[in-house]
Amino acid sequence: MREGLLQGKKGVIFGALNEKSIAWQVALKAWKEGAELVLTNSPVALRLGNIHDLAKITGSQVIPADATKMDEIENLLSESIKIFGGKFDFILHSIGMSPNVRKDIPYEQTSYENMLKTFDISALSFHRVLQTSYKLDALKEWGSVVALSYVAAQRTLSGYNDMGDAKALLESIARSFGYIYGRDKKVRVNTVSQSPTATTAGSGIHGFESLIDFSERMSPLGNASAEECAEYCVALFSDLTRKVTMQNLFHDGGFSSMGMSLKAIEQYQKSFEECDCDDK
Ligand SMILES: NC(=O)c1ccc[n+]([C@@H]2O[C@H](COP(=O)([O-])OP(=O)(O)OC[C@H]3O[C@@H](n4cnc5c(N)ncnc54)[C@H](O)[C@@H]3O)[C@@H](O)[C@H]2O)c1
Repeated sequence: MREGLLQGKKGVIFGALNEKSIAWQVALKAWKEGAELVLTNSPVALRLGNIHDLAKITGSQVIPADATKMDEIENLLSESIKIFGGKFDFILHSIGMSPNVRKDIPYEQTSYENMLKTFDISALSFHRVLQTSYKLDALKEWGSVVALSYVAAQRTLSGYNDMGDAKALLESIARSFGYIYGRDKKVRVNTVSQSPTATTAGSGIHGFESLIDFSERMSPLGNASAEECAEYCVALFSDLTRKVTMQNLFHDGGFSSMGMSLKAIEQYQKSFEECDCDDK
């Protein structure tokens, strides 16, 4: 029998597309810590990715659900209750997509149709999951729901486009629903604001390589990896964090509290030495 922080706990993990996905690492770590899982992703992601390999490793069932469709989420959560034999303990929301980012449409020329899709997939889907879980009474008392966010909810980062607005909405939903879910059913709701991480969604951001390098230089502890994010999420699913709720928790090596670091100054200085521009 496996022993661990999540021994005896059961949870649903949204968003494992491939090995690079943060959700993939969370699922692996949660499983290693003793949890039983149901994995889910959109039908198209099930075809394009390799979630079934993860399901094999963790001995989990995979249930398709497009997070923009209420009936599919309802089916997923009711089926999960059946598979687990009753209420379960945690949910990970690890979903993000912006058609504007994907099509390289800049923020100042946004397509509102695309923007609504960004919000629907990346933020309203979180409300949908919470509302359905609350309605079905799917989570046990002291259950835990975590969604992944990014510091672009608080600070403007060039190229992050309408995903910054989506993350601000996501974090607000965690607070608004966190109050209701905590008050009525003693369920925790938090967001984890993760460092830039080289995944399929992350690499779609314009200038992503520079963003990763910049935040690595700025963060006293360096960027947090997907594996480290998984460890933090497991801690939040565990009984060791039962009174943490309605928070946006930075998991970014200190980036969000920095203004300028020595490493970044040195790199910035070098860029002037290498160019013959007058404009210092
Ligand atoms: N990679 C980063 O730099 C970074 C940093 C901070 C936060 N995040 C957040 O982490 C989360 C996971 O992203 P990732 O970086 O692991 O990339 P990823 O591409 O591996 O995961 C994104 C997931 O969203 C799923 N998804 C998209 N549309 C969906 C829909 N309609 N229904 C259900 N699922 C849908 C995709 O199938 C995919 O599995 C996202 O919320 C992302 O914004 C990522």
